[in-house]
Amino acid sequence: MSKSKHSLDHPLVRPRRLRQTPAMRRLVAETRLSPAQLVLPMFVREGITEAVPLGSMPGIVQHSLESLPKALAEAADAGIGGVMLFGIPETKDAVGSQATDENGILNLATAVAQREVGGELVVQTDLCLDEFTDHGHCGVLDKKGVVDNDATLGRYREMALMQARSGSQLLGLSGMMDGQVAAVRDELDANGFEHVVLLAYAAKYASAFYGPFREAVQSTLQGDRRSYQLDPANRREGLREVELDIAEGADVVMVKPAMSYLDVLADTAATSTVPVWAYQVSGEYAMIEAAGANGWIDRDRAVAESLTSIVRAGADAVLTYYATEVATWIRQGRI
Ligand code: PBG
Repeated sequence: MSKSKHSLDHPLVRPRRLRQTPAMRRLVAETRLSPAQLVLPMFVREGITEAVPLGSMPGIVQHSLESLPKALAEAADAGIGGVMLFGIPETKDAVGSQATDENGILNLATAVAQREVGGELVVQTDLCLDEFTDHGHCGVLDKKGVVDNDATLGRYREMALMQARSGSQLLGLSGMMDGQVAAVRDELDANGFEHVVLLAYAAKYASAFYGPFREAVQSTLQGDRRSYQLDPANRREGLREVELDIAEGADVVMVKPAMSYLDVLADTAATSTVPVWAYQVSGEYAMIEAAGANGWIDRDRAVAESLTSIVRAGADAVLTYYATEVATWIRQGRI
């Protein structure tokens, strides 16, 4: 019989055993990142020839149609899962006409992406009116200036058709209108686009962390989106939106932003019968960049930790402005 030396000063249970060496930690890691689960949001702006850097998102640019192919090729080479395109038109109006113009910037960019990398990456488009309307809201307004849910659904139907015709493989419904998934599914199916995938931004919160995105898309919004995006106070309501969107036919559901909503993400991952994605939004990116640039945090470690946390909480894939860079790190074995 072995003589036990266990005592208060010699613990029997030692979790630290599994943390001794980098090789051991690597072997027992519960969460692993892979390039395939990263999706890169990209901004494409009409009327520019060269890429324009964004002040509030260092390292991120508004692409021109000419600068887009190189960035797409880099993303494909890095092995990421897809790209999500946002368009910035030169002219905006009350109904967001450019969104449904076949020569509108987003639709042209989609065709470019489909041609350049459509075989390697899932080419995805943001389906929302805020980049295209002069008032900056995600839908059209009624006579009183209130976002008109049902009139907006008609515009989303038209937008969905145009995006599908332009070659988008997956439509990201980010407008938070009631019934948008069912309406868009119906329109696509009636027009031979049964194969186009719908990502529902199901639990999308009215968040201050979208701040830098407003610069990125040159948003003209006055006021806020609290009458359609979720109240940050509400966890259960996030699940309600997820359930509704799955019932309406969403192929994938999303929680957004990511890091302040990991509880909603974990709830969603625990119950969803379809893939669950999360969006590490512009403000999350900007905070890491700003603190990193000041030497207040280790930027690269913070990037890796933030994405690991989002995946650990339950995201199957993550939309992140770091997608191409982090995919390269993973391939190099750096993380
Ligand atoms: C709406 C949309 C927004 C974002 C993605 N889609 C802006 C908003 O809802 O205000 C934000 C993304 C980010 O902040 O990175 N088209």
